[in-house]
Amino acid sequence: MARYKIAILISGRGSNMAALIEACRDESFPAEVALVLSNRPEAPGLEIAKAAHIPTQVIEHGDFDSREAFDAAMTESLAASGVRLICLAGFMRLLSAEFCQRWRDSLINIHPSLLPAFKGLHVHERMLETGVRIAGCTVHFVRPEMDEGPILVQAAVPIAADDTPKTLAARILVQEHRIYPLAVRLIAEGRARTAGGMVAIDNYGLPEQILINPPLE
Ligand code: GRF
Repeated sequence: MARYKIAILISGRGSNMAALIEACRDESFPAEVALVLSNRPEAPGLEIAKAAHIPTQVIEHGDFDSREAFDAAMTESLAASGVRLICLAGFMRLLSAEFCQRWRDSLINIHPSLLPAFKGLHVHERMLETGVRIAGCTVHFVRPEMDEGPILVQAAVPIAADDTPKTLAARILVQEHRIYPLAVRLIAEGRARTAGGMVAIDNYGLPEQILINPPLE
């Protein structure tokens, strides 16, 4: 069966992109990466994609007069590549309402918190300042408001007493690299549908482990 074509949009290091590329290397994975697109020519992730023989493209936002014009150029290139799903992976540009509407339910994002808590930037610092015990990450469908949209998959990550933003970010990132491929697989297999602002997923059992932090004595 033809694999589900995806595009990955990056602005920087591209570790989530690399995790998706790695998942797609397995021929039994139901998706393939047709395009990696960056708004920054110097994004280190571009080299990783090229080394994996993935088509890459740079569309620099600075070359356009407006957000809408930049987004329209991206849409043109994404449509031409025949992708059915766009994965934002550290893509540091807000997207226009038009772009979100054009790709509604075909556009997903990963965020390093248990949304709807801790939207926005500097998430790890803010979690530590707030004193929450459980952090995590979320893959969600994108809506025009930042870090809003129906939730597909989340992973919980306990916070250690001596965590710094850096150590916490590193532990969350390990889980990001697990849940992003899972979310793509659920969509490519047709097992995830948006319904009433939420996502319904066919056929899954709850994990047995319950996370309590600090643990029971
Ligand atoms: C990740 O923490 C992701 O959750 C957030 O931006 C970061 C991107 O990292 N949206 P990378 O470029 O995937 O390594």
